[in-house]
Amino acid sequence: MSSASSDVSAARSSVPSLPGEVQLATSFPARDAVPAAMVWPATQPRVLIAGETRIYTAATRDVVSPLWLRAHPGEAPQPTVIGQTAHVSVEVALEALNAAQAAWARGAGRWPTLRVEERIEAVERFTAAMVAVRDRVCRLLMWEVGKTWADAQGEFDRTVQYIRDTIETLKSQDRDNSRLQFREGIIAQVRRAPLGVTLCMGPFNYPLNETFATLIPALIMGNTAVVKLPRFGVLLWDPLLDAFAAAFPPGVVNIVNGQGSEIVPPLMQTGRIDVLAFIGSSKSADAIKGAHPRLHRLRCILGLDAKNPAVILPDADLSTTIPECIKGALSFNGQRCTALKIFFVHRDIAERFTAALSDAVDSLPNGMPWAPGVRLTPLVEPDKASRLDSYLRDAIAQGAAVANQARGGGSHAYTAYHPAVLSGVTPRMRIYHEEQFGPILPIVPIADLSEFTEYMLETSYGQQAALFGQDPATLGKLIDVLSTQVCRINLNSQCQRGPDVFPFTGRKSSAEGTLSVGDALRSFSVRSMVAANGNAAGKATVRAILDHDHSNFLSTDIIL
Ligand code: G3H
Repeated sequence: MSSASSDVSAARSSVPSLPGEVQLATSFPARDAVPAAMVWPATQPRVLIAGETRIYTAATRDVVSPLWLRAHPGEAPQPTVIGQTAHVSVEVALEALNAAQAAWARGAGRWPTLRVEERIEAVERFTAAMVAVRDRVCRLLMWEVGKTWADAQGEFDRTVQYIRDTIETLKSQDRDNSRLQFREGIIAQVRRAPLGVTLCMGPFNYPLNETFATLIPALIMGNTAVVKLPRFGVLLWDPLLDAFAAAFPPGVVNIVNGQGSEIVPPLMQTGRIDVLAFIGSSKSADAIKGAHPRLHRLRCILGLDAKNPAVILPDADLSTTIPECIKGALSFNGQRCTALKIFFVHRDIAERFTAALSDAVDSLPNGMPWAPGVRLTPLVEPDKASRLDSYLRDAIAQGAAVANQARGGGSHAYTAYHPAVLSGVTPRMRIYHEEQFGPILPIVPIADLSEFTEYMLETSYGQQAALFGQDPATLGKLIDVLSTQVCRINLNSQCQRGPDVFPFTGRKSSAEGTLSVGDALRSFSVRSMVAANGNAAGKATVRAILDHDHSNFLSTDIIL
């Protein structure tokens, strides 16, 4: 059975009438005006379980693109159905878990006990097959979440680079760990071993990159996995299923999709998930973790809520500050966990900053993601515009103003949205406290930096912050305050995750565990060691095992 998302009807009711809305509405093309090379490729509602892909028709959902199209020029744009995704039952989700558990085999399976080198070879085979379907994956990414063509390709290429960096880092770690150590009469080898069955759930804004950022390290370290696909960004997995099936032994990676609130709690309640890798809201993370019956046996790697602030000091150089703030707040329409989501601006510079920011916002090209140079694209969540409206209404009722309203700030048509620069924000307003995850730029005018530091001490977010200014003494003091509040302080530059070799984490409700190429390998493993008496007999035993390659784990082989 197939049913269109009910959210779509809510978005459909927004009929453009104001000038800003009418202009936004023109960006939706006729169906036959879509360039042939940009049309979405065909997919099937498939799942991967126990090494086999299968078409799942028992229950499917239409996948509706945020890129609405007109059947004919002059007609109103309509939601575009670009494929169907499987919505598996609890029984099928449990089947996927059983397959992952069988491959783990209580830790005695072939994959968890394989030599590191052989696991690397499997990931390399997968990567080669993944690169072969790059164009299909990127087009689906663009149609499913509205990412620009450049950003979709960037997400794919960054993911491939992440895998390659992960392989090189693991080789290097493994070379270090292949040494035997002698301490206080003990001969030992310390290596990293896998943890078990991983439930891997990425976010809709980076459905490929951020799912792979946990899945690949989990697999390469010897864990087995069940992947539950994100809310949006599901069809792009279809071209990858065959690559997974061919590269990994049956059951090592299982990929299903379905209603998270239906299928995830039963998976957790089995107590057979050993690692939870989840990127989403802290509320969902708490609910998912809470369903596990033995929390002490659950390792969690979580990327959660964030509301990264920018501080604009009186001596900020606006010629460099504004472009960074625009990138920070509006790359992918602000739908990034790392986005700048609130601006604390010293009142000595607030007026100039607000005017320059508004000018820059209003000059960003809004349109279809394949259009060259486009910077703003339709929003992926069908009810997003109405939620953003509600933030604006709440703030305006309490004295804030949309600084760029005359040029369309805050207006929307169908799924297109013109970002709103919201000035005069105060702690009484919802947007001061809540993560908007979209194109509203709230400006809080401050007379004293203590107003900002008090916000940081109080807030439950703790991912990153960005400081814009020149005075080294002021910057230095702020760095010291922020070093215990966030995990990355950006100087005169936007907040961001990359380069991926740097630690990506957060405090408070923003993260648990650290991601980065090297940290992820540690997050998905535990140190495990072999120790023997360093006397002649102990050395002889260790040597006999090594000389005859009796163990995959205790080994001094070097991976080149
Ligand atoms: O949504 C959160 C992403 O990790 C952001 O990554 O800073 O590279 O866009 P990014």
